Amino acid sequence: MLAKVLSATVSGIDGFVVHVEVDLSAGLPTFSTVGLPDAAVREAKDRVAAAVRNSGFDFPVRKVTVNLSPADVRKEGTAFDLPIAVGVLAADEIVPSEKLPRYALVGELALDGRLRPVKGMLPVALACRDAGLAGIIFPLANAAEASVVKGLDLVAVSTLGEAVGFLKSGERPAAVPASSPRRSATVDAPDLSEVKGQLHARRALEIAAAGGHNLLFVGPPGSGKTMLARRLPGILPPLSFEESVQATKIHSVAGVLPRGASLMAVRPFRSPHHTISSVALVGGGTALRPGEVSLAHLGVLFLDELPEFRRDALEALRQPLEDGSAAIARASGAVTFPARFSLAAAMNPCPCGYLGHPDRPCVCTPFQIQKYRAKVSGPLLDRIDLHVEVPALTLSEMAEESPPSESSASVRGRVLAARGIQRSRFGAAGPFTNAGMNPKQLKEHVSLDEASRTLLKEAVRRLGLSARAFDRILKVARTIADLEGRGKVGEDHVAEAVGYRSLDRAPVGSI
Ligand SMILES: Nc1ncnc2c1ncn2[C@@H]1O[C@H](COP(=O)(O)OP(=O)(O)O)[C@@H](O)[C@H]1O
Ligand SMILES: [Mg+2]
Ligand SMILES: [Zn+2]
Repeated sequence: MLAKVLSATVSGIDGFVVHVEVDLSAGLPTFSTVGLPDAAVREAKDRVAAAVRNSGFDFPVRKVTVNLSPADVRKEGTAFDLPIAVGVLAADEIVPSEKLPRYALVGELALDGRLRPVKGMLPVALACRDAGLAGIIFPLANAAEASVVKGLDLVAVSTLGEAVGFLKSGERPAAVPASSPRRSATVDAPDLSEVKGQLHARRALEIAAAGGHNLLFVGPPGSGKTMLARRLPGILPPLSFEESVQATKIHSVAGVLPRGASLMAVRPFRSPHHTISSVALVGGGTALRPGEVSLAHLGVLFLDELPEFRRDALEALRQPLEDGSAAIARASGAVTFPARFSLAAAMNPCPCGYLGHPDRPCVCTPFQIQKYRAKVSGPLLDRIDLHVEVPALTLSEMAEESPPSESSASVRGRVLAARGIQRSRFGAAGPFTNAGMNPKQLKEHVSLDEASRTLLKEAVRRLGLSARAFDRILKVARTIADLEGRGKVGEDHVAEAVGYRSLDRAPVGSI
């Protein structure tokens, strides 16, 4: 007897339908699989057999052959347990096969027959809908995530027995709650009103958000660098529905969506530790998992203690920064994960941290300082538009009962207006923001008057800035003008933009 069951899995962040065929034939009771890697098969066999028996069914004492197709796509994981178990029962005529051509099944089985959640539920459900299936039978623990998908009959079950019950009699053990599309995977974004003083850094944060610029905070420990960076997602435009789906798919595939989360409503903020490997940062590994750059897609990647990161990890960042995606090629197949994020980084001004501090002396030698700075120079620094000095707050600034600072909502209002100007300037063809302008677009959209040109030339000469830095300054100046709602980039805008290139010049000790 042959049974055909549908399932689905993911490649990259997109799902696709998988056909599962189970054949029972006379012969020694063996269990073999075509189209699954060996280790996964051995484990699936034991789990499926135990789950079937512990759910009150007989496991057929026959030769069981399972075929998963397409065969050329790498299929990982354990989500095929449920379709295999149901396939065995259908081939044994315990389960009617009437619904099987229209309903996909996914889920990992525990030995007692209970279902465990799967990774990638959202892309899997989307793929089933797009393939024209009627519905999907899946673990109840994935219900919130699946509920986002409209136009698909969502059958959430807790056990193999319940899945069989539905296939036999249409009985549904639990209603899937209607999706609350804006329900957040992340809660309570911190607010800028909590940050005292630091007007210069707040301004830079606003410019970064408005123009999509990367930024680097330089300041002593405790000056508020981390605090500021954490507030960047909250002043970016809200995620559109499509963006929420895309961000959620990435987190779903990586298996890091919080339990009960449906759609991510808040832009991601990722802050990997500086000991992170390049694979964990940009993705890859045997399971072809998305890395931190992709988890930060449409949000913020925060690299604290930037000079402490491994050289190869920082090198690996260049391609995603350039392309907005992370391409991972391996023998098992190539995938591309989206990775369009804002980079926020932080570092101390020197190894001890207190260079330029009003009360504490720096104990570093000029050589040590130079060596420390050199770690972030070059190609990476070239992609950071805004270098921002964040001095220590004085005690009186900290203690002062001043009125609360401006809120994130209010800053975001200006960011949105500036983004609107950029959208009408660039149109659908992009780039998304000023930071992404190519040389041709830069020429077209930033034309300087004589005074601004002179100012910029003088700054370049005096500070010894590179040609790359020159372009960065123009882009930032464009954003500053957009924040003011001005069509033409003027002298003030250029002057302010020049001020954000401190690390390009930075003779030792002058931060
Ligand atoms: N500008 C500020 N306004 C309010 N609190 C601040 C400010 N700067 C620092 N703090 C306080 O100091 C703590 C450390 O700040 P943090 O952002 O971690 O500093 P850094 O990352 O520069 O070392 C914060 O948790 C906060 O309590
Ligand atoms: Mg910090
Ligand atoms: Zn020092």
